[in-house]
Amino acid sequence: MGGRLTGRAAIVTGASSGIGRATALALAREGAAVALAARRRERLQEAAAAITGGGGRALVIPTDVAQAPQVAALVERAVDAFGGIDILVNAAGVAYLAPLAAIDRSELERLFAVNLFGTISACQHAAPHLLARGGGFIANVGSVSGLVGWPGGGPYVASKFALRGFTQCLRQELRAGGVRVCHLAPNYTDTEMLARAGVAPAVRARALRAEDVAAAIVFAASLPAGADLVELELRPTELG
Ligand SMILES: NC(=O)c1ccc[n+]([C@@H]2O[C@H](COP(=O)([O-])OP(=O)(O)OC[C@H]3O[C@@H](n4cnc5c(N)ncnc54)[C@H](OP(=O)(O)O)[C@@H]3O)[C@@H](O)[C@H]2O)c1
Repeated sequence: MGGRLTGRAAIVTGASSGIGRATALALAREGAAVALAARRRERLQEAAAAITGGGGRALVIPTDVAQAPQVAALVERAVDAFGGIDILVNAAGVAYLAPLAAIDRSELERLFAVNLFGTISACQHAAPHLLARGGGFIANVGSVSGLVGWPGGGPYVASKFALRGFTQCLRQELRAGGVRVCHLAPNYTDTEMLARAGVAPAVRARALRAEDVAAAIVFAASLPAGADLVELELRPTELG
């Protein structure tokens, strides 16, 4: 394959649906070998089949990113299979929305375990391998909810602001080693997350497609090594 990412190896978390799945497929279309991670094995297998059916290379690694040992095993297996890794996309995420008085502590901890600690774990385990290659690319999928708050979004917004802050620090820590770290801040994207949140079909119809966000991630990953796209705010044209 003669894609922009031929010869690269990637790990994508949240690859069983939505933005992660679309990104895994888009990376593979550009020639990258992709390790697909999330909890739902069958969904990962279906995405992997779509990749291999198109002539790409895919590896299914069921993983709960909230469990640090599973994240360590994910990175180890991908490195073993591919001989190293060049790209990490952290798209695993959940939404928990509640106004102040209704915030439930255990739901809040579960949210942070996935959206923040899961991403930090993946970066911690993957970064040494990217550095060992002399460079690489990490995309952390945040949200416009990591740029601006809104009533009732406290838990989710807090997790995404924290993720953005962490991503900025990570970028400064890794760039001397040639690793570029990009913060993705999409707005409404028509995925299972929006459906679960009860967003009206009329709004979902005008939202971004998961493939739009995937295209932005592939664009950032494909830039020349000396060009570092630090942050990307992506909004659906019609929704503003
Ligand atoms: N949709 C939007 O409007 C929107 C806007 C801005 C940002 N985002 C962000 O985009 C990212 C992807 O979300 P999406 O919209 O594509 O929703 P989605 O279709 O629900 O995808 C979420 C993904 O995260 C995975 N996941 C959840 N908990 C996990 C865990 N503990 N371990 C491993 N994987 C886990 C899910 O897989 P399993 O259930 O199989 O584990 C799934 O693959 C999230 O970080 C979300 O916050 C979404």
